[in-house]
Amino acid sequence: MTPPPSPPTGPPPSPPRALTIGDLAVSPPVVLAPMAGVTNAPFRRLCRRHGAGLYVAEMITARAYVEGNRKTMRLAGFDADESPRSIQLYGIDAHHVGLAVARLVAEAGVDHIDLNFGCPAPKVTRNGGGAALPVRPPPARRDHPGRGSPRG
Ligand SMILES: Cc1cc2nc3c(=O)[nH]c(=O)nc-3n(C[C@H](O)[C@H](O)[C@H](O)COP(=O)(O)O)c2cc1C
Repeated sequence: MTPPPSPPTGPPPSPPRALTIGDLAVSPPVVLAPMAGVTNAPFRRLCRRHGAGLYVAEMITARAYVEGNRKTMRLAGFDADESPRSIQLYGIDAHHVGLAVARLVAEAGVDHIDLNFGCPAPKVTRNGGGAALPVRPPPARRDHPGRGSPRG
């Protein structure tokens, strides 16, 4: 008969280190990255059953949120008991991003906002957002003659 496996030796595993973002404690220190079309409210609810960490809601556009676009408002919906509340924001001008941040915090009780500076999708970068933002920051683009009005 095969002997039972011996118990592991050595020191017990140390507990995970605390993760804080500003004054927000993320415990356990696990973050669900924002995924367009995936990290909606029902998906985040399923994830929360396995322990609260930080679950980032899918990306919304700052200008559409400020203008009350119906689809955007739905994407920015949180369960009543969802805490902490996190969402990714895409914008190309400080005016709309600032307004959206203020309203997400004041009206939707959002605790954490992930600003999109990395999306490589052409439909995002051709408007100057996502991965194009660090390359061509808004003030430089504003000085560029012939540009249309921002859409972010
Ligand atoms: C279907 C899908 C949609 C995504 N949408 C976004 C998005 O809207 N914004 C963003 O910053 N990253 C987006 N990502 C990237 C993810 O947030 C994440 O960075 C990537 O999947 C790598 O995750 P990992 O480091 O855990 O492997 C998306 C990824 C997938 C697979």
